[in-house]
Amino acid sequence: MVQTSTANLACLIASMFLGSVSALSSFEYMQVTKNFADAFMPSTSSDLVANLNTKKALFAEDVQGTVDIAGNIDGRDYSTDFLFGLFLGAAQNSNVPSPIGIPQSYNVTSAVVEHNTVSAGIKFELEYAILNTTYPMELEAFLTINDKKQITQYDLIFRRWAWATDTIIPQLTPYMAQLLGMSNDNSTLTLHQFLAYSSCTQTMGYCIGTNSQYDSLMECVANTTSLPTGQFYRVGENNLACRAVHASMLQLNPKTYCPAMSVSGGDICVDRNYAETVRGDHFSQGFLAPKYITQENKKIVQNVWASSDDKELSPLLEISMSTQDMHSWDATFYATMTFVYFIFYYIFAKATDFLFFRFNRAYKDLSREHQKNVTMYFMTIVFTAIALGLQLVGSPGFSGEWHYWELRCVRLAGVLTVALYLFELIFRFNMRLPLVAHHILTIFAISLGVTTMEYTQNPGFMLSGIIWLFQATTEQPTFVGLMGYRLKWKKENVALILKISAIQTFIFKAASAVALLVYWALHQRFHYNSIDYVWSVFVWVIAIGLFLTQIWGSYVTYIIGVAVLKKKRPGPPIRLESDSSNTSSTDIEKGRDSDLDLRSGTITPAETDVLGYDGKRVKAESYSMSQYNSSSGLIATGP
Ligand SMILES: *[C@@H]1O[C@H](CO)[C@@H](O)[C@H](O)[C@H]1NC(C)=O
Ligand SMILES: *[C@@H]1O[C@H](CO)[C@@H](O)[C@H](O)[C@H]1NC(C)=O
Ligand SMILES: *[C@@H]1O[C@H](CO)[C@@H](O)[C@H](O)[C@H]1NC(C)=O
Ligand SMILES: *[C@@H]1O[C@H](CO)[C@@H](O)[C@H](O)[C@H]1NC(C)=O
Repeated sequence: MVQTSTANLACLIASMFLGSVSALSSFEYMQVTKNFADAFMPSTSSDLVANLNTKKALFAEDVQGTVDIAGNIDGRDYSTDFLFGLFLGAAQNSNVPSPIGIPQSYNVTSAVVEHNTVSAGIKFELEYAILNTTYPMELEAFLTINDKKQITQYDLIFRRWAWATDTIIPQLTPYMAQLLGMSNDNSTLTLHQFLAYSSCTQTMGYCIGTNSQYDSLMECVANTTSLPTGQFYRVGENNLACRAVHASMLQLNPKTYCPAMSVSGGDICVDRNYAETVRGDHFSQGFLAPKYITQENKKIVQNVWASSDDKELSPLLEISMSTQDMHSWDATFYATMTFVYFIFYYIFAKATDFLFFRFNRAYKDLSREHQKNVTMYFMTIVFTAIALGLQLVGSPGFSGEWHYWELRCVRLAGVLTVALYLFELIFRFNMRLPLVAHHILTIFAISLGVTTMEYTQNPGFMLSGIIWLFQATTEQPTFVGLMGYRLKWKKENVALILKISAIQTFIFKAASAVALLVYWALHQRFHYNSIDYVWSVFVWVIAIGLFLTQIWGSYVTYIIGVAVLKKKRPGPPIRLESDSSNTSSTDIEKGRDSDLDLRSGTITPAETDVLGYDGKRVKAESYSMSQYNSSSGLIATGP
């Protein structure tokens, strides 16, 4: 548990660092959408009204809204009162035949998130206790959401609600007639009477004192029955339906809603004009995703929409919509964080070099190039260990447990490794061909894995990545051995470390390669789109290619381990015989390093010690160009 939270924290810090540029993620916008839908669910609290007040946090103070069946609903208070108060009456009196049921459950059946705009379709199941049944109600919602996760605009559409009321209300009128003690011969009349009575009962109960609208229930009924019944899909007009809907909000704020119960209908139940209502553009930002309007760009983008007035789409739309299509596989896109990695590695390398130079005598005596190598060994040990830790964070994925932060950790492990290898390719002068091939293949493999994962959204590729990364992140013992070798640790220890690490890396790499291919065979042998083919081909090509370079690496490491003991220190390679004073800086290493000369003569993939880049080592100056050329690369030279 502690481990998990520490790892979580580490990845969180990393993600904050990496993700601080963007506002909320699409996922967080979805979360807000879910919170919004959840707010309609039956409350566990017995105090329905208090519970409703806590839902205000969903909205921004100055939220703008429209509900197609009602009209404009602006402000945090009215929005909360209307949207959730709508269902309050039915929830409080389940024996009253309310045309609006109580939401019991929902499914978000469609959702698109673009920038800060969400479009979602939510199907609710409404309970009609008196009918002992439920009916579905579909809400289409357009939302814009601010960085504080508050809804700033909403446009809600009750889809097919007219049909719903045509279906539901005729079933309720017998119960209405029963409550009123009248016959249900004329259901139009029943509904009319019922709405007048039920809203007047509430009005008389809550609109008292200064909020009082009528002197008596009879006056209220007498006056409101003069109004049309209206329809439950037009509850913002001057009719009884509007009053019935707002009656359940009276208890929330009598001062605001009681005027709606008057014959004039206050500001709420008013006559509306269809054409004006539809033409009206209520929202300051609009919902033309991803048209993100701020104070600064308001002038430019506010009127950018697709219109028959303009033949072409605005170029501004193209600009604002194109940024959403950028991904790490896009050739015109280069993640700016990459540069930060390089600068970080640069500083780390400088610091390592400085500290070694200061505190390690053996390091001081090394050639400049070998100092660089030791620095690189040290960095590899540190950063592959970090990558190993990050990579293991994602391992619950093998049991089907996925978390985004785990995925980010695994991706970070891959990216750290790629950047490290790339840095090494630039930082070091001489690298053997197999090592260069190994690095380039690894960089390609990791890039392919990350891209495939992002492109397919299939977390299975993360697992492949974890298996594969072991090849790069379990090499620390080798580098400890090589470092010890360079820094002249006790020969026996160095030999032991190198021999063990040779066997260890061989086993780990073989296991990783086999596991990767087995995992591919079990879970990734499908081809739905081109990236699947690319993956299948390259998994095999790169896995085998990498494995071959690594067998070689392990073999060389082992040979060094053997050679260390046999000799005092390996002598200079044949091509550097003139450089006799330089025994300590010529050596044999796992292809990591310059020259390998086993006097035994079995293998000698040699490469010159290229010297004196900084002018400190002038010994190499006497080498001719041809000597230099012929001795670089993978040339086996006999004794
Ligand atoms: C949500 O979806 C499930 C599975 O399809 C279904 O059983 C359930 O009734 C749906 N609920 C609503 C409210 O639509
Ligand atoms: C409600 O409906 C269910 C089946 O839909 C039925 O089993 C139950 O008896 C009904 N309850 C009442 C009170 O009618
Ligand atoms: C039902 O009542 C309404 C309103 O009171 C009235 O206009 C209508 O004529 C009545 N219908 C019948 C069939 O009596
Ligand atoms: C109710 O109607 C009567 C008669 O039309 C009218 O005199 C009275 O002012 C109305 N009361 C209210 C509160 O509107």
